[in-house]
Amino acid sequence: MKALILSGGMGTRLRPLTHTIAKQLVPVAGKPILGYVLDHISEAKIDDVGIIISPETGHHVKSYIGNGEKWGIKPTFIIQDKPLGLAHAVLTAENFLANDRFVMYLGDNLLSYGLNRAIERFNHCGAEALIFLKEVDDPKRFGVAELDEYGNVFHLVEKPASPPTNLALVGVYIFTNRIFEAISHIKPSARNELEITDAIEELIHMGCNVKSEILKGWWLDTGKKDDLLQANTIVLDEYARLDIKGFVDSESSISGRVTIEKDVKIINSNIRGPVNIGEKSIIKDSFIGPFTSIGSNVSVNSSVIEHSVILNEACIEGIERLEDSVLGRNTEVKRNDRHHKALRLLISDDSVVEV
Ligand code: G1P
Repeated sequence: MKALILSGGMGTRLRPLTHTIAKQLVPVAGKPILGYVLDHISEAKIDDVGIIISPETGHHVKSYIGNGEKWGIKPTFIIQDKPLGLAHAVLTAENFLANDRFVMYLGDNLLSYGLNRAIERFNHCGAEALIFLKEVDDPKRFGVAELDEYGNVFHLVEKPASPPTNLALVGVYIFTNRIFEAISHIKPSARNELEITDAIEELIHMGCNVKSEILKGWWLDTGKKDDLLQANTIVLDEYARLDIKGFVDSESSISGRVTIEKDVKIINSNIRGPVNIGEKSIIKDSFIGPFTSIGSNVSVNSSVIEHSVILNEACIEGIERLEDSVLGRNTEVKRNDRHHKALRLLISDDSVVEV
């Protein structure tokens, strides 16, 4: 079994953050989303891993994964010249995948549990594909599947205007190499992409068996700002633990599950978990509230922050209340008058916002 991780695409829905960062590298609870994906691949003991990258952001993805030893994988980076769809990405990796079965995992999807059970099932069920599904409130945003009484998939449709069910396709799939034949039969969709959903529908038309696995745990597609904040909340809630490596002065208080990395300084501040604070950040005269992830080299002074994701090198000063916000790298948010209301921001790397 091989794995194919899709880490290309333009990340248009997370702009402006993704003008300078691959969406798969946006951190959730202090770790890039792609890191969680690689953890799952590693747990499944798959070492031969193809990584689809884009010409624009591929170098960032490459430098994050490096030689893969952190996860015990051997990465092969494959450039997809244009974001022409998930099925197009599979075609781009045809030489790498050769005749092997493979798990395809979208690098911006977070799942509450790993792949072992599904792989085991796939290896014994004789199907040509196994897809993960999740009941959602808004199926129009996703690929949608219909199942027969035995749980076999008999129909799929990408982002339907009138969804036949509420079962969304999660961004994890397991295939045999028959998927290539199916892809060769499909045409680009209305958004001019070769859709993997259409390819799986084609597998069914070819008479192949497609199984499904309905996820009971959480699934987060971090495509948009609010999804990202929700992902941060859920992941912090699940994984945050009390671990203080940095310095906390005697005027400060830490409550709940708070992770403070090394070389952090907490001065005269209250930190209420779950919270994650990355290396070399300085928090002074401030309150950092639940469900906040702060990157490294961040400076927070005389401010209150809750339920937010702050990337590396950001600087926040004199902000009475910042919540539900995502701040890119090297951003500055500073107060310059007496009006202070809650702020809700999505700003790009290198922006400066004065309020
Ligand atoms: C893609 C798939 C869709 C699936 C979704 C999961 O959508 O086309 O079927 O439900 O990933 O994240 P996209 O992110 O390309 O809109």
